[in-house]
Amino acid sequence: MVENYNEVLYQNETMVTERLILRKYRVEDAADILEYASDAQTVEFIIWEGLDTIRAARAAIYDYYWSRPGIWAIEHVESGKMIGGIDIRLNHDDDKVGFGYVLNRAFWGKGYMTEALGAVMALCFEKLRANRFEAQHYAGNEGSGRVMEKCGMRREGCMAQYEKVKGIFRDCVQYGITREQYVSKRA
Ligand SMILES: CC(C)(COP(=O)(O)OP(=O)(O)OC[C@H]1O[C@@H](n2cnc3c(N)ncnc32)[C@H](O)[C@@H]1OP(=O)(O)O)[C@@H](O)C(=O)NCCC(=O)NCCS
Repeated sequence: MVENYNEVLYQNETMVTERLILRKYRVEDAADILEYASDAQTVEFIIWEGLDTIRAARAAIYDYYWSRPGIWAIEHVESGKMIGGIDIRLNHDDDKVGFGYVLNRAFWGKGYMTEALGAVMALCFEKLRANRFEAQHYAGNEGSGRVMEKCGMRREGCMAQYEKVKGIFRDCVQYGITREQYVSKRA
């Protein structure tokens, strides 16, 4: 991983893809955050409990979304709406990066998260010089695995009843891609 990782992240606070702008969260995003964070189906397979008030959405911006670089709001260029978020977590000991993402349900199935994840993955390998990029999804949330697969990640295994999520033991499916695999995929 590069030593000036925070500088790189701040320089890439805004990233533009074909149909999206990945950018810093704004206080005005609170209503759009609440829209997806209060939807039970959207938060079913994430450890996060979700949010139920605009006040809590605003607090999440101050307390979490602005807490460090590497957390992007996803803006849909065509409508100007903020439709989700994606964040990365750096592990310096192993030069690897984990991530998480969520999208407003009205925008699922249109390739938006694949587009966002592709941009974030490129940043991690090409600018942050990570050696590995990884995430897990819970069994039952196969759409998330498909996003990772479409971005060139590989299914590496499944850990039975690995986490207790909102009272339910969930199997956890591991996905990853190494720098070598990323480079050979692009060659
Ligand atoms: C997971 C999530 C981010 C995907 O975003 P998205 O923009 O809809 O993803 P994409 O459109 O880029 O790709 C989704 C793919 O999954 C597929 N898919 C959807 N549901 C599926 C299912 N039950 N089984 C198999 N594939 C499924 C879609 O068909 C699509 O693949 P395709 O392009 O080959 O047809 C979105 O559904 C979401 O926010 N879910 C709730 C939060 C969440 O689960 N976050 C991830 C936690 S690990």
